[in-house]
Amino acid sequence: MRIGSIINGREFKEETRERMEVRNPFTQELVAELALATEKDVNKAVEQSYQTFHKKMKKMPAYERSDILRNAADLLLERKESFAEMIAKEAGKPLKYSRGEVERAVQLLKFASENAKDLTSEVIPMDAAIGGENRLGFTKRVPLGVVAAITPFNFPLNLSLHKIAPAIAVGNTVVFKPAEKTPVSAYMLVKLLHEAGLPQGALNLVIGTGEELGDPLITHDQVHKVTFTGSLPVGKHIREKAGFKKVTLELGSNSPNILFEDVEVGDVVNDLVKGAFAFSGQVCISAQRIYVQKSIYDSFLNEYIRKTESLKIGNPLDEETDFGPMINKEAAERAKLWIDDAVSNGAQVETGGKLEGTLLAPTIMTHVKSDMKVIAEEVFAPIVSVIPFDTEEEAVKLSNDSIYGLQAGVFTNDLNRALRVADQLEMGGVWINEISTYRQDNHPYGGVKQSGVGREGVKYAIEEMTEIKFIGVHLHKRK
Ligand code: SIN
Repeated sequence: MRIGSIINGREFKEETRERMEVRNPFTQELVAELALATEKDVNKAVEQSYQTFHKKMKKMPAYERSDILRNAADLLLERKESFAEMIAKEAGKPLKYSRGEVERAVQLLKFASENAKDLTSEVIPMDAAIGGENRLGFTKRVPLGVVAAITPFNFPLNLSLHKIAPAIAVGNTVVFKPAEKTPVSAYMLVKLLHEAGLPQGALNLVIGTGEELGDPLITHDQVHKVTFTGSLPVGKHIREKAGFKKVTLELGSNSPNILFEDVEVGDVVNDLVKGAFAFSGQVCISAQRIYVQKSIYDSFLNEYIRKTESLKIGNPLDEETDFGPMINKEAAERAKLWIDDAVSNGAQVETGGKLEGTLLAPTIMTHVKSDMKVIAEEVFAPIVSVIPFDTEEEAVKLSNDSIYGLQAGVFTNDLNRALRVADQLEMGGVWINEISTYRQDNHPYGGVKQSGVGREGVKYAIEEMTEIKFIGVHLHKRK
């Protein structure tokens, strides 16, 4: 399979283009060959998006935009298996999680379809100001224009749709640059949206590396908004380069989960195994730090190790597999170095820690210190640390001791304590009696501190993909 960029419905995959390979991270089999885009293609894609915005999308009525998104949801549901298989092949995500991703994407498209018809506005009480008599004022939410959507490998379908679907719902156009490690499901998605009725030039795909295509895209004058999910250094670079453009950045985290002594260990342990090791920890809100109150620390740790060791490790395409490879060898080797570095400074590996190619075994660490990379930075790997604490104040302090603040989990049966802790955690979101890794696609999602800027979750992304326009009328008296 050879794929290329799609601009105004035409695919560019000539033999003369520079090429790149996508390989299955588990088997190393070739999944696709990419014909790479150039800066010239980015310019063409932006210009096409700009024209289609002015000629078509900004004039398209809400019911049509809504219908397109609904058609896309129906088509995606029909093709659930082929999308799930492709995600498993190109990202190495176990099939059961890949299917879950497609199911979420179907729901997300339905939310976007509904929200497209619900762009409400406000009437302003103009006579609240002295001299405002006989004036009528109201707002309209209007689309921005061209949105640059730059997406990561870890949820190649759903995180792409978190940007594309709200953009279309309100009448923007999109230049879409998916991660070069997982562009095939993105390519399938673009084709599907066109089939669902989206005008060809309203969604243009550029395939290539961030190094090559990133700057031309984010600095182009005709791009009005950049929305990005990925690493902190790239997020900082985008923020610096984007100038006056609107920016949404979904960056990293080292999510804490706090277990108070009144919880039943057996009730939470399975969820926390999933929370740390689903898709090999390559999730921004993966449970990275688990703080456990001292009296239940040993029983939790023993049970946690036992359950982790029972995960079925193997080929992501096998139905039974719970845990598969990391995205590539470099990522796995980097994570292993962080483990080794922590161990050489006194940390202990309770289980895991072994690396074979792209497979880093699910790893539980203890005796960690707050300045170790496995604690202070985003591991984005199957590594979790279990840390004891005494008091509520201490748990909050440890959790907040981070440059990040995306999502956290708090486990307790004491409602007062749960809400008190939720208030004090410096996070974009806090789950009570749920793992930090849980996310629904309709709640606001985004970080504080260096976890990002802005919010996603369809309705909230829509707010960030529109501008509020004020219209005022001076009503003249009858002569
Ligand atoms: C992320 O990794 O940022 C997204 C997590 C999710 O959507 O479940």
